[in-house]
Amino acid sequence: MNFDLIPLDRSELARHPADALVLLLPEGAAGAGKDALSTFIAQAQASGDLDTQAGKCLQAWKVAGVAARRVLLVGCGDGSAARIRKAVAAAVTALRDAPVKHLVLALPETAASAGVQAAVLAAADASYVYTTTQSKPEPRKLRQLSLAVADVEASRDALARASAMVQGVELAKEWANRPGNHATPTHLAQAAQALAKGVSRMRCEVLGPKEVEKLGMGAFMAVAQGTHEPLRFIVLRYDGADKAQAPVVLVGKGITFDSGGISIKPAAEMDEMKFDMSGAASVLGVFRALAELKPALNVVGLIPACENLPDGRAVKPGDVVTSMSGQTIEILNTDAEGRLVLCDALTYAERFKPRAVVDIATLTGACMIALGGVRSGLFSSSDALARALQDAGEAAHDLCWRMPLDDDYAEGLKTRFADVANVAGRAAGAVTAAKFLQRFAGKFDWAHLDIAGTAWKSGAAKGATGRPVPLLLTYLLNTAPTEPRTAEAAGKGKAKQASNPAKNRAA
Ligand code: BES
Ligand code: MN
Ligand code: ZN
Repeated sequence: MNFDLIPLDRSELARHPADALVLLLPEGAAGAGKDALSTFIAQAQASGDLDTQAGKCLQAWKVAGVAARRVLLVGCGDGSAARIRKAVAAAVTALRDAPVKHLVLALPETAASAGVQAAVLAAADASYVYTTTQSKPEPRKLRQLSLAVADVEASRDALARASAMVQGVELAKEWANRPGNHATPTHLAQAAQALAKGVSRMRCEVLGPKEVEKLGMGAFMAVAQGTHEPLRFIVLRYDGADKAQAPVVLVGKGITFDSGGISIKPAAEMDEMKFDMSGAASVLGVFRALAELKPALNVVGLIPACENLPDGRAVKPGDVVTSMSGQTIEILNTDAEGRLVLCDALTYAERFKPRAVVDIATLTGACMIALGGVRSGLFSSSDALARALQDAGEAAHDLCWRMPLDDDYAEGLKTRFADVANVAGRAAGAVTAAKFLQRFAGKFDWAHLDIAGTAWKSGAAKGATGRPVPLLLTYLLNTAPTEPRTAEAAGKGKAKQASNPAKNRAA
């Protein structure tokens, strides 16, 4: 989908050729002018058919004096970014099956950068369709979104950032949605390599079973030993800043299918365990956006990718393995595999002397029970890092909620047969999983995002959400010490001379 900006002028909007014109109207919006659109709005208001509550739609066809075939008046409440998001989602959903290729979307006069970003993300989300494994794909109808804003120049940076974010979200959705047989560890590694190819300052290295064995990743290898599909350890690097700047490391759980292994899962809804690489997909998505935006930042992405299947060679409950850190682990439940692949990736992260490490994982059903699909679970050993991630989540409308890490929660992980067990009891399952990971994250500031409830939707709307790409990207860009570079400037190693630096950073 393409985006562009046009001026917010009702006379011009009426003349603008498009398949549909959506006007977002905040509370008290008046149709003051004498132009065709204002007249139409005033009439709708006078007759009581206009409702400015966020998301309320009034659709009309062939309005006198308006070039666009369809006109949608959509309420956007107080005009905040959150209400704009809701309104745009409703409008684009209402037009989803209509033959609308080019949509003009007029934001309220007061909308700032945050409103532009909210509108772009909501429109992309509501019009997204998955097609990859369809034999007769029906591609997305919406091709062009023209945003009408009060100040076109002041909105350019926000649009560039939002458009990159959309590309990241859609790459994450694509890979998470793909079935397990179309998204093997090998496929994921190829996707990561393709992503980095030809992008300045970005590279990708892929380790296979031999290299992983050499590194001593016994926990990761134990999960992968029940399948014929070879594991992959993907290392993505984006070096947008000076070497001296410590990188942020993102670690994404990449279980391309989680059957549970010998501790096998029930059959109902097991198909959804193809989404168990959503953390990995979010890392790919963030790198996609970094490739677009070229911020002055160093970022490492680590993806331990494998299947969790039961066979004659599979790891068994009670087996003890040695992790890369040297700690031994008693695998009491082979379905608690995410923490096993992540713990070795966390140890690997030490070599980058990171500023912070954030792991992203569909780790526990318990987190889904605790927080549902609204907020991801956030665990962190650092108050500052937790704050930064929470703030990024609020700004990006990609929410998380901090959970506790008291040492008492680790009691259940004690065992007589190894340094640690991979599961505790049923109580506080999301927290005990985080406590397990924390044992491997002692050498840096660390945060863990449990996205089990937020990475995909079940039921009729089954599909990946692309979360938490907006949260992660916002966090990273907020920590960038200088303005983003343009692709060109980054290639020459020079910072861009931004005309209005910092103006659009807050979004
Ligand atoms: N991938 C699952 C977590 C999951 C389950 C996410 C359902 C979303 C929906 C993870 O590998 C897992 O199986 N966790 C177990 C841990 C348990 C054995 C301690 C769980 O949550 O049941
Ligand atoms: Mn599992
Ligand atoms: Zn899993």
